[in-house]
Amino acid sequence: FSLTGMNTLGFEVTAERFVRIQTQEQVSELHAELKRSGDPLLLLGGGSNLVLSARIPGIVAQMDLRGCEVEELEGASVRVTLGGGEHWHGAVSSLLEQGIYGLENLALIPGSVGAAPVQNIGAYGVEVKDRIDAVQVYDWQQERIYWLDNCECEFAYRDSRFKRESGRYLILRVRFLLSRIAATVTTYAPLQARLSTEEQQDPRAVFRTVCDIRREKLPDPERLGNAGSFFKNPVVDGATYERIKAAYPDLVAYPDIAGFKLAAGWLIDRCGWKGRKMASVGVHDQQALVLVNLGDGDRSQLEKLATAIQADILETYGVVLEPEPRFYP
Ligand code: EPU
Repeated sequence: FSLTGMNTLGFEVTAERFVRIQTQEQVSELHAELKRSGDPLLLLGGGSNLVLSARIPGIVAQMDLRGCEVEELEGASVRVTLGGGEHWHGAVSSLLEQGIYGLENLALIPGSVGAAPVQNIGAYGVEVKDRIDAVQVYDWQQERIYWLDNCECEFAYRDSRFKRESGRYLILRVRFLLSRIAATVTTYAPLQARLSTEEQQDPRAVFRTVCDIRREKLPDPERLGNAGSFFKNPVVDGATYERIKAAYPDLVAYPDIAGFKLAAGWLIDRCGWKGRKMASVGVHDQQALVLVNLGDGDRSQLEKLATAIQADILETYGVVLEPEPRFYP
């Protein structure tokens, strides 16, 4: 079974076996099957944060559970429960059309609803953890379905319990707490700069502008394979920040609870990597944090490029860059 159209890097990948999960019952069936065969399992959402090898052993299951339930709460709050298989951007724009606000900053992020909590997707001043009420999981260990509330998900920057305990949970549904009253977030400077004072209050304008910025900077996976930001922005302590800042006064960094979060794109760009190619992969020419598949690239080429960048960043700044996507197997 070909997974080439199912990973946004566009790598040529085949799976030994592939199943789609469209009902809750199919989850228990799949579990029984895995116990019988002892096969490894890869759970696929939108395939937008994954670096796959050419052949995937065992079973690949794609979460395709659909559904959208809207509950009006007291005041203007709205509780929205979405199936894990819903398309992320489709859900964001449909809710906005219904006058339900809160997710507009997260427009155009590739992938599925069920994948969003795993790495706590975030952009332009909002992280999905800020809007999640609870996540419904199937726990492969306990063999039962239950809800984890926001705290129990242990969200952090591009991280969660689902990522740390990889393989334990299958995310079935995600419940969001949103609002009928607009409460826009326009703290992210490049977003704010493009909005008039009036537009800053308007979630539709925020949505449109986020879409515009993303389309300018980030390559469309349909045209140029990529997995979004390839590295996390590294968080360093104050002393490290001061040391780098002294050598590079134009360093881009943001204060963070643990010290300073450095813009990895800036670090990589400054080392001259933007637009560079290696075999059939390369560094995007508009955003140095994004690695791209130029045609027939594969995992080993991408790993070589990533390793070369990491070595250069370590040597130049003494900072370790961690990849953001998951490598499988
Ligand atoms: N920069 C450069 N050169 C580059 C890229 C960036 O100098 O080639 C500088 C920019 O000028 C800017 C700073 O670095 O001053 C930060 O860049 P940008 O605003 O593009 O954001 P980012 O830190 O590169 C993060 C997220 C994105 C998210 C944006 C907007 C991570 C790893 N990435 O990128 O998320 O869309 O902020 O909030 O946190 C993703 O995770 O896949 C992703 C795209």
